[in-house]
Amino acid sequence: MKIPKLQIGSISASIPIVQGGMGVRVSLSSLAASVANLGGIGTISSVGLGDIKVSANNYEETSREALIKEIRKAKSMTDGHLAVNFMGVLSNIEDLVKTSVKEGIKIIVFGAGLPTKLPALVNDPSVNLLPIISSARVAEFILRIWDKLYKRTADGLILEGPLAGGHLGFSVEQLKHVEDNSLEKLLPEILETIKPYEDKYGKKIPIITAGGIYNGKDIARMLSMGASGVQMGTRFVCTKECGVSQKFKQAYIDAKEEDIVIIKSPVGMPGRAINNRFLKDLEIKGKLKINCPYRCLTACKVSSARYCIALALLNSYFGDLDHGLVFCGQNAHRIDKIITVKELISELLNELKEA
Ligand SMILES: Cc1cc2nc3c(=O)[nH]c(=O)nc-3n(C[C@H](O)[C@H](O)[C@H](O)COP(=O)(O)O)c2cc1C
Repeated sequence: MKIPKLQIGSISASIPIVQGGMGVRVSLSSLAASVANLGGIGTISSVGLGDIKVSANNYEETSREALIKEIRKAKSMTDGHLAVNFMGVLSNIEDLVKTSVKEGIKIIVFGAGLPTKLPALVNDPSVNLLPIISSARVAEFILRIWDKLYKRTADGLILEGPLAGGHLGFSVEQLKHVEDNSLEKLLPEILETIKPYEDKYGKKIPIITAGGIYNGKDIARMLSMGASGVQMGTRFVCTKECGVSQKFKQAYIDAKEEDIVIIKSPVGMPGRAINNRFLKDLEIKGKLKINCPYRCLTACKVSSARYCIALALLNSYFGDLDHGLVFCGQNAHRIDKIITVKELISELLNELKEA
């Protein structure tokens, strides 16, 4: 089997694999550039880059500076395709999106919120806009609004199913019955939903599926069902190039299936994480003290939030897992070693060819 390319607007990635954006600081320049160098799309996460120990006035500035640094570093390491991932709930999202475009990023991925204003923010037709969606209803809503307000359509959609890592676009109740919202069930609905918009704008809207995709056989299944590519997160965490602490990676390797749980996040969405000391302490204490001078998330109600998610994720990044939240996908327990991005991608491509 010939490995299909992934075409997004004028961008042509030689393999149909997108490394998903992972905050806080899980997917930065080193990981993204390594994936891009091997023909995939590497995604830098724009989330939580600012220095949270500085005062409120400096948060936006340090976030911007850190993002510029990561983009420039990644670009110095690769000529391949790079994306930046944004969460709609970030209070400084406008600044970060504009900064990325100014720095020459051509793929903007937008999740955790509705990207109703995104086309107005990015006034450059060479920049590809890819909302993350979890249902045909939301896909239809975004495409309809963009059509009406901006006379444009999406350059691609990332369909994230219920097995993904990080924040999830499903209710806790829906996550108890993941099979009702499996990618296999959602993908045909999405392909149907985008058709009128593909016809109207005379272009293909590639669908990139994400969540629980573990091996080349999974990729083959998604492609055979009509996906143009896949986005993977969890598998890239346990690579040498991923910049998180060794303890973070080890938590994946040690995790058993029953350790992977659904949590409630101050972002207002459920998330998937490894049940560790931090979560157990939180369960006992009910609420942790929060010192928040900078309000990084519009959706976080500091007075009622049970913990500061930015700090909890940052702690894990640095290796303080006793005070840290470790986001992961449902399949994290299947990982048993740390490999290089090159090893991972060649394994995936070999399996894909075989499948
Ligand atoms: C540690 C971790 C952090 C993540 N953070 C983000 C994020 O900040 N924004 C986002 O859109 N998706 C985030 N995700 C989701 C990934 O980009 C990807 O879509 C998802 O993990 C795919 O599922 P998989 O992990 O089963 O491959 C995160 C996933 C993980 C594992």
